[in-house]
Amino acid sequence: MKKWNSIYYFLLLLLFTMVFVDCKKTETIFETVTETVTDTLYLNLDPALVAEGKQTFRYDAFGDEAFWSDILHIDKAILGADNGGYGGGVSPATALSVGLKVDAEALPAELVSAIQAGQVDLNDPLTTLELLKLDAVVGVKGNFSNDGEMTSVGITCALCHSTVDNSFSDGIGKRLDGWPNRDLNVGVIISLTDNAQFLADLLHVDAATVVTVLQGWGPGKFNAGLTVDGIALRPDGSIAANLLPAAYGLQGVHLATYTGWGDLTYWNAFVANLEMHGQGNFFDARLNDAGQFPIAAENNFGNVRNSPDLITPKLPGLQAYQLSLTAPTPPAGSFDVAAAERGKELFRGDAMCASCHISPIFTDAGFNLHSAEEIGIDDFEASRSPTGLYRTTPLRGLFARAKGGFYHDGRFPTLIDVIDHYDNHFDLQLTPEEKNDLVEYLKSI
Ligand code: HEC
Ligand code: HEC
Repeated sequence: MKKWNSIYYFLLLLLFTMVFVDCKKTETIFETVTETVTDTLYLNLDPALVAEGKQTFRYDAFGDEAFWSDILHIDKAILGADNGGYGGGVSPATALSVGLKVDAEALPAELVSAIQAGQVDLNDPLTTLELLKLDAVVGVKGNFSNDGEMTSVGITCALCHSTVDNSFSDGIGKRLDGWPNRDLNVGVIISLTDNAQFLADLLHVDAATVVTVLQGWGPGKFNAGLTVDGIALRPDGSIAANLLPAAYGLQGVHLATYTGWGDLTYWNAFVANLEMHGQGNFFDARLNDAGQFPIAAENNFGNVRNSPDLITPKLPGLQAYQLSLTAPTPPAGSFDVAAAERGKELFRGDAMCASCHISPIFTDAGFNLHSAEEIGIDDFEASRSPTGLYRTTPLRGLFARAKGGFYHDGRFPTLIDVIDHYDNHFDLQLTPEEKNDLVEYLKSI
């Protein structure tokens, strides 16, 4: 009897242990999944303002047709000589090859079927006009007369800061706002102009140099400082350009741009006025410094006045829309969960990453700027900014902007290259396994 009793107790103990271990296991898995992928940050924004900003971000050219069409004649380049413009024209196939994207949701069902049946000539510039009429070319705004003639084109924020999910075919799909278009060859698109002389005069170089520089930026890159400081080349003679950054995951981030030019709204106004050449008002006395910004000082870019102002009234909506763009969540299976969990500990601990990239915003709040020396790179780009420093990049949604590399100019092709850089610079003495864990963590946030 005694013997049976002890067996009974033993079995009971075993059962309890199994249940307990099982619970622990589920608990750990649950914890891992929720904590590795950082919780999304939603702000309490006015839905009407967000909707207005979305419209602006996608479709508003702020009157920049005066630059892209009246001065650069990009509308005529799209049309081609056969349709009253110049050159071969821009067919959908050409547009897709320079990284432009097509919004599949803007295409009517008949057009979708016709494309699928191979009945649409994707090598004909007139097809591009049809797409422009439908507002289907992401970031390019076409204007048409009542009889259907294209009168001008302009560009919108979505050109550089949106892409598509390729769900229809390569380059054609649903819009992904805030995702940088790292396929877009901005320089090649601008160099379609037959008036490179305008830019040459602005920059005090010859037209051939302008074209060489534009064609040298490469996909996913743009030199936002060129039209204020005229600096086209890095000190080693290579062509200077920065990666198009994400416009998502900026909730709680104070300073915008790689070098912290100003806050989000400052930069939106800067871009709309000085890069897109929209018709607005913009004031920044720092640009009057002819030593640092000779082109801006000469052209009074620090004091832009236009009436009517097509930009300032849209800044609140633009800001709200950008702050509504949450960083995308990494797809399940795109990173190793256990390694990412270990990487998180390193990131916050021994690797000291979190001393600058502080979660949940992954930048350092306040005046989040660092000298080139501090992060172990050259100061070329920092010195072009009024701050002279680099801003700690917010890291959410890194997986969606891996193409083109990392750091402002894409100097580190992969995340492991970034880690190797920090390992050397801060003498972290990370093992290969630890480096891998950090990479998996970066892929998870
Ligand atoms: C021709 C391409 C292009 C267009 C069009 C464009 N941007 Fe940008 N944007 C850039 C580049 C390049 C940078 C990075 C500049 C830098 O730091 O050197 C940038 C930076 C930004 C940033 C800062 C992101 C960060 O991490 O701090 C925001 C926000 C932004 N742009 C919003 C906008 C808005 C809003 C518009 C429309 C008004 C717009 N952009 C139009 C290319 C573009
Ligand atoms: C002293 C502050 C500081 C520390 C510490 C630091 N970073 Fe950074 N990080 C920066 C700055 C500044 C940049 C922007 C550099 C640039 O664009 O040229 C940056 C950029 C990055 C980028 C590139 C993001 C992109 O989209 O281009 C990654 C990834 C990154 N850091 C990861 C890490 C990791 C991992 C660690 C720890 C091993 C770390 N950082 C430690 C300041 C820091």
